[in-house]
Amino acid sequence: SREQSTVDGWRYRVVWKPQADAVTKPRLSGTWLAVVPEAPAGAAGDTVAAVLRTLADRGAEVRTVTVAADAAGRDALTATLKDATAGAPAPAGVLSLLALGGDAAAHALSQALGDAEVAAPLWCVTRGAVVAGRSDRITDPGQALVWGLGRVASMEQGGRWGGLVDLPGTDAADDRTLERLVGVLAGDAAEDQVAVRSSGLFVRRLVRARLADSPAVREWRPRGTTLVTGGTGVLGGQVARWLAENSAEHLLLASRRGAEAPGAAELREELTALGARVTLAACDVSDREALAGLLADVPADQPLTAVIHAAAVVDDGVIETLTAEQVAAVLRVKVDATRHLHELTRDLDLSAFVLFSSFAATFGAPGQGNQAPGNAFLDAFAEYRRADGLPATSLAWGPWG
Ligand SMILES: NC(=O)c1ccc[n+]([C@@H]2O[C@H](COP(=O)([O-])OP(=O)(O)OC[C@H]3O[C@@H](n4cnc5c(N)ncnc54)[C@H](OP(=O)(O)O)[C@@H]3O)[C@@H](O)[C@H]2O)c1
Repeated sequence: SREQSTVDGWRYRVVWKPQADAVTKPRLSGTWLAVVPEAPAGAAGDTVAAVLRTLADRGAEVRTVTVAADAAGRDALTATLKDATAGAPAPAGVLSLLALGGDAAAHALSQALGDAEVAAPLWCVTRGAVVAGRSDRITDPGQALVWGLGRVASMEQGGRWGGLVDLPGTDAADDRTLERLVGVLAGDAAEDQVAVRSSGLFVRRLVRARLADSPAVREWRPRGTTLVTGGTGVLGGQVARWLAENSAEHLLLASRRGAEAPGAAELREELTALGARVTLAACDVSDREALAGLLADVPADQPLTAVIHAAAVVDDGVIETLTAEQVAAVLRVKVDATRHLHELTRDLDLSAFVLFSSFAATFGAPGQGNQAPGNAFLDAFAEYRRADGLPATSLAWGPWG
């Protein structure tokens, strides 16, 4: 369920390592621009207030920039940032708490800071976006989008990148947690991907362990109907072949073009020859109603038992140039479709719910400021489902040949 991959007999795993932090009370200096959502509710709102108070208590001159939902676009944000910085000394740092308001708006902020020529490092705060400690749970997988974007920003905009800090997702952050946050912003930890908890500071690390240390994985066979979204695409088609070779009974291959997709007729023939029943469906899986209709048509004698979500739209670009439409088009199928698939199948007895993610989400990749956040969401979503006792696997593919 955690981000991991296998190369040459090694298993690579992302872990959160506790790191000793300074015992002295950390201090900040200079002006900090705190970019906050308008009226965040509940514990998120308490956390925003507590973070702002703590920054000021620890020496920062805090200038708060409140972002209303209808003014979160690139141009509106640029104007707001210019107003906030006009005639004032250059800020020492920027702290975005926008994710705590529910709408990440992180792309627009990152772009607007460049447009407004704010050169200070940007730190982004989330709540409950990572599982760092034993009692942690991902409370909102949507916040993982910020983590996916941050890893790309750290490569594309390294000169003005600060880092990512996750706060506990359950309650409002306590004093110890807030103190640790200030320590991270002050540079005490010299880390850019951290989780701060009352119990300690955790840093993100890639570690490896021999595969021989891991018990063999159970065997899995497709039964009834297996839905493959993007089933007429490159990887979807490949997976469909593998499923058919492994005795799949009914393959439901969904894509917007369905039977009209290039190569669909040949793929159907090939899969049928392998013994599978094949349905090519034209369905936009990011459209909840259309997806519900598709699932309602699954034959009763071959019930849905597995979902493989391989659908994607690729429209790469560096963050600086990505349009809101380019981001939305990619995230619609990565985020919305995944949520719909989850909600519409959660009462079924699925044996597999597989998401096609990417190496770029784990490490960041220049030019993937829309794709990597979507894939980071998938990784977090798999953990989120697992914590609910539901099957989930997120595969972090490298580039296919
Ligand atoms: N290829 C790689 O090297 C690589 C590496 C890492 C991760 N991945 C991941 O693996 C997955 C598959 O990649 P791929 O290379 O096979 O991509 P691909 O060949 O472009 O296939 C994507 C498929 O998704 C379908 N699709 C797009 N939007 C859809 C929607 N809203 N509803 C239903 N179907 C939709 C497309 O068909 P229509 O246009 O007809 O809808 C197409 O069949 C993606 O999630 C990608 O992020 C791929």
